Amino acid sequence: MIELRTPVEIEQMRPAGRFVAEVLTRLREAADVGVNLLELDALAHRMIRERGAESCYIDYHPSFGARPFGYVLCTSVNDAVLHGLPHDYVLQDGDLLSVDFAASVDGWVSDSALSVVVGTPRDGDLELIAVAEQALEAGIGAAVPGNRIGDISAAIAAVAHGAGLSINTEFGGHGVGRTMHGDPHVANDGRPGRGYPLKPGLVIAIEPWFLAATDELRMDPDGWTLRSADGSRGAHAEHTVAITADGPLVLTARD
Ligand code: MF3
Ligand code: CO
Repeated sequence: MIELRTPVEIEQMRPAGRFVAEVLTRLREAADVGVNLLELDALAHRMIRERGAESCYIDYHPSFGARPFGYVLCTSVNDAVLHGLPHDYVLQDGDLLSVDFAASVDGWVSDSALSVVVGTPRDGDLELIAVAEQALEAGIGAAVPGNRIGDISAAIAAVAHGAGLSINTEFGGHGVGRTMHGDPHVANDGRPGRGYPLKPGLVIAIEPWFLAATDELRMDPDGWTLRSADGSRGAHAEHTVAITADGPLVLTARD
């Protein structure tokens, strides 16, 4: 079921968006050569406790995970791109790290992700991140009343295809509200003018992610981490966006 939020509710959703943005900004600063993924998770966990927020991940057990998630972050390194289960791993020079974080504040959720290179970038990694970010910007630009979900999907896909990337439509964006995952699904490829009409009050996570040389994923034995089938590297960019009469409002915008 698709739920629309009133302007007052959208105002109430801002603190969650700001908090998620703050945590990701802090994680981007903290992510460095020599830092353990578990330290990043612990840092975010501390921020959650200090803020009186709630993690959306800890006990989350959807059909696409083998067991309750158990951490507050997804940390996906190099050829891992989505749902990376934090584990005892020390970041190395040149690692491409994607961090995905969702939390609820005052009963409202925000969900956002970024990719970053620690240390010296390898060929192509910064470009791949830039494509994910540009695709996110294009998707946000299409998130206006009068458009449809397919216009967001098509805008994302145009950027990816322009960069010669193929797209996996199994995992994508989603409605966000009192819980992390709601309707509608916002695929990273689709047909313009199709799908649910965008109306003021619709709040969605838009989240393009791409792999450098394939659209096929494999799951790790941990039952969560999704990596490319061919070892090529991945990048992810995500914001929670409210569609308003005045245009898209990016709730998780970082300064
Ligand atoms: N936040 C992710 C998304 O962007 C979902 C993570 S699910 C988890 O939709 F269980 F891994 F936490
Ligand atoms: Co999401």
